Amino acid sequence: MAFNHKNLIDITEYSADDIMQILETATTFQEVNERKIKKVPLLKGITVVNMFNEPSTRTKSSFELAESRLSCDKLSAGGKSSATVKGESLLDTMETLNSYKIDMVVIRDKMAGAPYIVSQHTSAGVIDAGDGKHNHPTQALLDLFTIWQRKGTLDGLKVGIVGDIGHSRVVGSLAPALKIMGATVYGIAPQTLLPARPDLLGFDAVSSHIDEVLPELDVVYMLRIQMERLDGAPFPSLREYNKLYGLTEERDRLLKPDTIVCHPGPINRGVELDDYMADHPERSVILDQVYAGICVRMAVLYLLLGGNNELNS
Ligand code: NCD
Repeated sequence: MAFNHKNLIDITEYSADDIMQILETATTFQEVNERKIKKVPLLKGITVVNMFNEPSTRTKSSFELAESRLSCDKLSAGGKSSATVKGESLLDTMETLNSYKIDMVVIRDKMAGAPYIVSQHTSAGVIDAGDGKHNHPTQALLDLFTIWQRKGTLDGLKVGIVGDIGHSRVVGSLAPALKIMGATVYGIAPQTLLPARPDLLGFDAVSSHIDEVLPELDVVYMLRIQMERLDGAPFPSLREYNKLYGLTEERDRLLKPDTIVCHPGPINRGVELDDYMADHPERSVILDQVYAGICVRMAVLYLLLGGNNELNS
């Protein structure tokens, strides 16, 4: 099936069929990642620029691995070692990189909307790897992949997204993506960590009472408190937050036996999750999410850059 997108910036531009095509393609790449030799020549000759202007461990490393395993040529731009430190603007940097005839830009930036602006100034495709507190679409897709693999479906699942909804870019893509796939999505947060219009994220319901909602859920998705973006928002102490909203061993009894626990990482242990939940052998799928990051980012790069014509031939 043809894949008719050039960019991955706004997940709401993708249909349920588009998303399912990504998840199914990621399953094929999962098989590649289980081989001894994990490299395929599918994107040989394609050049990808990784422009990370904000800290990243999982997203950056999994994009780099995904690109290597697809045999892309890749180069790093942005961050502290680039000319942005000397005052070069994002657009001048883009003009420079365009001269190399690049095919794809993977960009993380503290400015919401930066991937869209870049897409207006390059003929290459653009993938948003996280922009400010706005969007993080590949994180949403790897979360969907992990949940889909574990639960066998997304349609009809009850998913609770808990924590710093007001400052998280993860929720900006995840909540709409879950809705596109037919899940029921609950936002759970103290009032002070909610955006002014949580309804715009597509939640079916919003609650500040975690203990009332937990027994309903098939998936509990815990968000990190975005300390770097709180901007003076009233916030209890970390210990109080953990008591009121943390997913702790004590709250385990409120969950159904097969409820799973997700977190995008990095985890603030002892704040949104205690060790018992973060490392729970049956419930926690956090390391599955990390692994899904490679398979899903391979699928996204492959579909955006090449279509899936040769994959199964
Ligand atoms: C997320 C991010 O950077 O937004 N991390 C990630 O990409 N795995 C979530 C976070 O930092 O809380």
